[in-house]
Amino acid sequence: MDWGLKNRLAQIIKPQNNRALMLAVDHGYFLGPTEKLENPKKVIAPLLKHCDSLMLTRGVQRTSVDANTDIPMVLRVSGGSSIIGDDLSQEDITVSIQDAIRLNASALAMSIFVGSKYEYQTIVNLGKLVSEAEQYGLPVLAVTAVGKELGKDARYLSLACRVAAEQGAHIVKTYYCDNFEKVVQSCPVPIIVAGGKKIPERDAMQLTYNAIKGGAVGVDMGRNIWQSEHPVPMIKAVKAIVHQNYNVDQAYKLYQKLISQEKKKPQGNKPQQKKGNNPNQKKGNNPNQKKGNNPNQKKGNKPQQKKGNKPQQKKGNKPQQKKGNPNQKKGNKPNNQNKSNKPNGNQPKPNNPKK
Ligand code: R5P
Repeated sequence: MDWGLKNRLAQIIKPQNNRALMLAVDHGYFLGPTEKLENPKKVIAPLLKHCDSLMLTRGVQRTSVDANTDIPMVLRVSGGSSIIGDDLSQEDITVSIQDAIRLNASALAMSIFVGSKYEYQTIVNLGKLVSEAEQYGLPVLAVTAVGKELGKDARYLSLACRVAAEQGAHIVKTYYCDNFEKVVQSCPVPIIVAGGKKIPERDAMQLTYNAIKGGAVGVDMGRNIWQSEHPVPMIKAVKAIVHQNYNVDQAYKLYQKLISQEKKKPQGNKPQQKKGNNPNQKKGNNPNQKKGNNPNQKKGNKPQQKKGNKPQQKKGNKPQQKKGNPNQKKGNKPNNQNKSNKPNGNQPKPNNPKK
């Protein structure tokens, strides 16, 4: 594997423990302003430092993520259909490799719709994207989209994940299911599990735990984090399962502790930052409206001060352990936990072919 590709993968799946916590905020690309993700900038800001990588579209990256971040971006490059259109499986590649590189993407992500009307198109697109991305050392994450006509069981997901891996995907994102181990065992590249629709926090923690125990490298979770009443405690609890081998009880206790700490924090000390979240809403924050807020208008001649460019601390660079199946790592198993307690809520809605 080329150095660049290996290095970018290591930004997403941490080599220290072969685990990954990806925060998904790409939902708007076909759902529009999804509940609690209406204002991506506001949602992303407090969560960003807690994830290993952020999965998003170029529009949200450019408008709603601070470019000073050191968190790697997993850029969705497929789209073309919306929830109110004819067929969600009719996707194409919508972002050029040049733009992905301009955005400093650490990986590209696209969906395949195995078994759907547009199966051929999406699988061929995946193969082509991998060929192109590999020229630049960019890994590709294939999302196995599911739909009302598509199965969500181990048989279907094994097929879809394997098809993605055979086309050269470097990571496959899929759903958790009964007999998930089978899906993992027949997929030669790392598997990351989507969170699915919002379920109770403890169930989402159980899903995370089960996915890792079943051999996933981690979760790519969206709604179960930012649709929670307590997104920061939730992402921290999920992170503890992914990276610190917490079991569900431990993670849930941490979640509750963090909520009570949040409540104790004196309110109103910090002035609420309202500016700049939506350039279309507030006068004076709209770059097209008022003088002085328009980045295109010349401001005085003051040289711009650089914001705190602290040198980044490197995290423990433990030597890499040799891996067998990239999805299965010895010695990092989560603590004992009841395997059978699987939440059902992670299944996508029947009418929503992607969720
Ligand atoms: C699905 O197509 C999107 O790519 C989401 O990123 C994915 O479903 C993960 O988000 P959630 O945890 O909300 O399911």
